[in-house]
Amino acid sequence: MSLSVVILAAGKGTRMRSSLPKVLHPIADKAMVAHVIDAAKQLNAENIYVVYGFGGDVLKAELTNKNGDDELIFVEQKEQLGTGHAVDMASPNIKDNENVLVLYGDVPLTKVSTLQNLLAVKPDNGMGLLTVHLANPTGYGRIVREAGTVVGIIEQKDATPEQLKINEANTGILLANGGDLKRWLSNLSSDNAQGEYYLTDIIAACHAEGKTIATAHPESEVEVEGANNRVQLAALERAFQLREAETLMLAGASLRDPNRIDIRGRILIGQEVQIDINCIFEGEVFLASGVKVGANCILKDCSIGENTIIKPNTIIEGAVIGDNCSAGPFARIRPDSTMNNDSHVGNFVEMKKTTLGTGSKAGHLTYLGDAQIGQNVNIGAGTITCNYDGINKSKTIIDDNAFIGSNSSLVAPVFIGSTATVGAGSVISKDVEQEELAVARSKQRNVKGWQRPIKKS
Ligand code: UD1
Ligand code: CA
Repeated sequence: MSLSVVILAAGKGTRMRSSLPKVLHPIADKAMVAHVIDAAKQLNAENIYVVYGFGGDVLKAELTNKNGDDELIFVEQKEQLGTGHAVDMASPNIKDNENVLVLYGDVPLTKVSTLQNLLAVKPDNGMGLLTVHLANPTGYGRIVREAGTVVGIIEQKDATPEQLKINEANTGILLANGGDLKRWLSNLSSDNAQGEYYLTDIIAACHAEGKTIATAHPESEVEVEGANNRVQLAALERAFQLREAETLMLAGASLRDPNRIDIRGRILIGQEVQIDINCIFEGEVFLASGVKVGANCILKDCSIGENTIIKPNTIIEGAVIGDNCSAGPFARIRPDSTMNNDSHVGNFVEMKKTTLGTGSKAGHLTYLGDAQIGQNVNIGAGTITCNYDGINKSKTIIDDNAFIGSNSSLVAPVFIGSTATVGAGSVISKDVEQEELAVARSKQRNVKGWQRPIKKS
């Protein structure tokens, strides 16, 4: 049977105290509902329905842009009349002979394996229900069993004192045949303590038809927890990050402290990768074998070659770093930059749209923008490529084996030939041919017998 997923996302999320619809609040820089959508996709869902109430335009814009998505079908629930009513909004599209899985836009950490377990336990002719045993189930619907068989769900507000003692709770996640689901939903009543159309009432309807409700359970509670306020959101973020850290460690990375790493995207690693504390990884990051990342680094959309060392407090974005390089501490490597193998940038060096050739070095306090630097070049401390004249950006080209003396300004467009030398403190505005020495600074004048000024009384 094919599978469709209905994601409930109509809640306003008042407790977030935000103009952003609740389900767009992020976990690891990705909207909560986008995590749920990803899980649905990993289950190969044919159709994914997002039931929205508030902020529909924002929701559509956000989810459609980010994922370039046409698989999503947005269904409006104008009034929030209950979870059963919400699912029913998708009914006109639901096929009789498909499995329908109900998920929640504000419950982002459900594992795909858990949902696969649910799919596996569901009888062809019955339902699958994800339940969880809680030490304190207050607030949750309780699973009512007779001789072990699930016969219904009773909401907290409708439960008798006896039923409130049940600690098997409803996670809300369930699975039913499309035809059954539509029939049960069309028969729901709102005659209950909250005057809502409860999705949970379909359990009793299923049982009344003599059909079986099979249960599956998450590995941990966090998989079925939702975020109603920013405190809960932060707790889910931490749980997500710890899970990411564990995945990374099991893949072979050494993390100094799995509680002090943030992965907001995807990270791929080779062997023997070491990551110190407080690093943030964003977008797609690749760390080849033997890479060491020092404390407090931010790495975004970049690839780091084998045995390269990224020293503390270095920020790298949109760059490719080769093998056996080192960068930092306090280096900033900006988009479209490349460090070829065995190259080195040290503290307070900024690179932008710059290629640093094999074996080249810029050790200290340097800005390299729009520069193409050959092999074995030495860039002295304090060198600046003056790439911007206020209107246009221009390129600096430095050929192999050149030596740029400290505190030089290279006024682009400018070319420094191979094995050329630039004297320290030069302002270079004309090309330097290969093997030439260029010195462009005022001459030193030594004044004999010169007296320092004397303090006036
Ligand atoms: C629901 C379940 C309860 C379960 C709990 C798990 C029902 C009747 N009860 O209770 O058994 O233990 O979840 O968290 O289903 N929503 C809509 N439209 C609506 C109403 C709700 O989209 O008209 C969405 C909400 O935005 C939310 C989710 O459905 O994401 C659950 O709704 P909520 O009102 O929080 O249900 P609970 O009372 O927590
Ligand atoms: Ca709830």
